[in-house]
Amino acid sequence: MNICELQTPSFLLNLDILEANLKKVQKLCNENNKELWPMTKTHKSTYIAKLQREYGAKGFLVGTIDEAEAFINAGLDNICLAYPIVSKANIKRVIDLSKKARIILSFDGEDGARLFDNELKKENLTMEYLIIINCGLNRLGVSPNASSDLAKKICNYSNLKLIGISTHPGQVYGVSSGKEISEVSKQESESLKIARDNLISNSFDISIVATGSTPTFFNVITDSNINILRPGNYPFYDNIQLSLNVCEENECSLTVLGTIISKPKDDLFIVDVGSKCLGLDKGAHASSLINGFGKVKDHDELEIIGLSEEVGKIRIASKTNLKIGDKIQIIPNHSCSCANMTDYIIGFKNDIVEKIIDVDVRGNSIKPNLI
Ligand SMILES: Cc1ncc(COP(=O)(O)O)c(C=O)c1O
Repeated sequence: MNICELQTPSFLLNLDILEANLKKVQKLCNENNKELWPMTKTHKSTYIAKLQREYGAKGFLVGTIDEAEAFINAGLDNICLAYPIVSKANIKRVIDLSKKARIILSFDGEDGARLFDNELKKENLTMEYLIIINCGLNRLGVSPNASSDLAKKICNYSNLKLIGISTHPGQVYGVSSGKEISEVSKQESESLKIARDNLISNSFDISIVATGSTPTFFNVITDSNINILRPGNYPFYDNIQLSLNVCEENECSLTVLGTIISKPKDDLFIVDVGSKCLGLDKGAHASSLINGFGKVKDHDELEIIGLSEEVGKIRIASKTNLKIGDKIQIIPNHSCSCANMTDYIIGFKNDIVEKIIDVDVRGNSIKPNLI
């Protein structure tokens, strides 16, 4: 079946582009002697995670316990939880999963560590953890110079073992030029170096220095202090990465296929793709470079100026050959949230549908037991 015969809206994944994106990042890691542990919140798909492993990924960074559970059940190992886990129900779930596969925890404070250690003691188990370092996003994490202060406190909890540090320079999504991406990359590298030196000079063993963001990946890949890279967005890229010049339009693998359903004015199309497919997302950290709500692939003359839930408004900025009934592919502003809108993505090669890929890890996989 050709993709233009599909119903609209449909979520499409160009499998050739996906493969090229996965291979390019993996190759750079191999050439620079780094391990790739992709962040999987972008695709939330065991199929794509397995592809990443097949190409050489050594582990995965997950945003949720659901992701950890699905990947472990699919036979994947080396799962690092990106954020602290502190509620009792969540701690119990993670401890149960840790009996099946290696799970690495992440902490940025003593309280979460103490709660976890209490539960681990009951089961006579030990788990490894990373200290989260704040490199400028000002979300989670301790300042680089405070890393050994926290390590000293957590080392009182004998069922937790420190193995390294991690950071995420998400502030890069607020910049407006390549020069500023370099500056954030420098902040990322320097923060990790200070934190590592601080821990080593206080006699802590640090075997993992991990970081990740797609925009800074291409700068910090050569940093000899870092040994694990954890970008997430690079399998799909999107309009945000395009606006930052991190990728080219022909590297964006995920699109939403839509049909032009009306032309109410000479300069306006309506398409059957709305916010329930594309989201209203302009980036988690306030990108000033994004004006519209996605980019129509191969049609620079069109601007998506507004989205209702099921339809979108497209301004015809200059002459176009498109008309009512024609199909268009829209590159979402943020592919990670776009992929989370659907149960499945349609994989194609050379415009021919090849494969249905389940987004099998979205949502909440464990329903509460009400009895
Ligand atoms: C802790 C952490 N690491 C890595 C990533 C991946 O970054 P990106 O989506 O820029 O590739 C994220 C993204 O949210 C993150 O929160």
